[in-house]
Amino acid sequence: MKIGSPADGGHSAKYDVIGVGYREVRRPDPRLAALIAGALGDALTVVNVGAGAGSYEPEDREVTAVDPSRVMLDQHPGTRKIKAGAEELPFEDGAFDAAMAVMTVHHWPDPARGLAELRRVSRRQAVFTWDPAHRPELWLFEEYLPEVGELDRSAFTPLSVVTGALDAHTVIPFPVPHDFTDGFRAAFWRRPESYLDPVVGAACSTLARLPASVVDPALARRRVDLGAGGGRPPPADLLERESIDYGYRLVLAGA
Ligand SMILES: C[S@@+](CC[C@H](N)C(=O)[O-])C[C@H]1O[C@@H](n2cnc3c(N)ncnc32)[C@H](O)[C@@H]1O
Repeated sequence: MKIGSPADGGHSAKYDVIGVGYREVRRPDPRLAALIAGALGDALTVVNVGAGAGSYEPEDREVTAVDPSRVMLDQHPGTRKIKAGAEELPFEDGAFDAAMAVMTVHHWPDPARGLAELRRVSRRQAVFTWDPAHRPELWLFEEYLPEVGELDRSAFTPLSVVTGALDAHTVIPFPVPHDFTDGFRAAFWRRPESYLDPVVGAACSTLARLPASVVDPALARRRVDLGAGGGRPPPADLLERESIDYGYRLVLAGA
């Protein structure tokens, strides 16, 4: 196992806390994996920046994982692992055929600089992120935790910053399937009881970021609603849907 130790910019602290147990809840979904693998095209060497536990890394390429969090890298099963932040990638110009970054850009202190680094070290980039300007918002959060919408809209990197910094040529919407396996914020839109599970909450930075004084009463309200039998299920029109566009986007750049 190779773990390098270039400067990580000191930004690993959050995931060193909330990253514990990440792999149990954040199981990569095969449909998103296929989309990302297709976007990487014929790349043989790939750098996965903000790699975490290695979700969505294609198995048929040589992948180098980069992440500033030791807790996350320890859960990564790969052999090429470097502890570093996106803003200062310890690689030569053009070192990789492709770079990927999945649900991580909004955690970077300087997204534009990190994305410029992706372009510097690779000829093709595939970045999966959430567009904070997208509507509708996840119905459950609107009803029980409006604070989440507010927090996320300010915390997530605007899509225009991602596309601009990458000089992107393509943006592909990814409607979330109702049985999506990766527990990020909108994953359980048709299975709202899942948000009551503390393990789910702990591995979702959206919920983990809010103080317990906000999250706990909201979840308690939800628990009471469900227990009373009159708990508000997902709106009827949603129950019939297989997938829904909640603003997740795959951004492609380079050649
Ligand atoms: C939600 S996780 C996503 C992990 C993985 N890409 C996935 O799809 O499961 C966000 C990751 O971003 C990492 N991260 C935080 N700050 C970073 C930075 N400055 N540069 C690169 N990665 C960073 C965190 O340590 C964490 O592993």
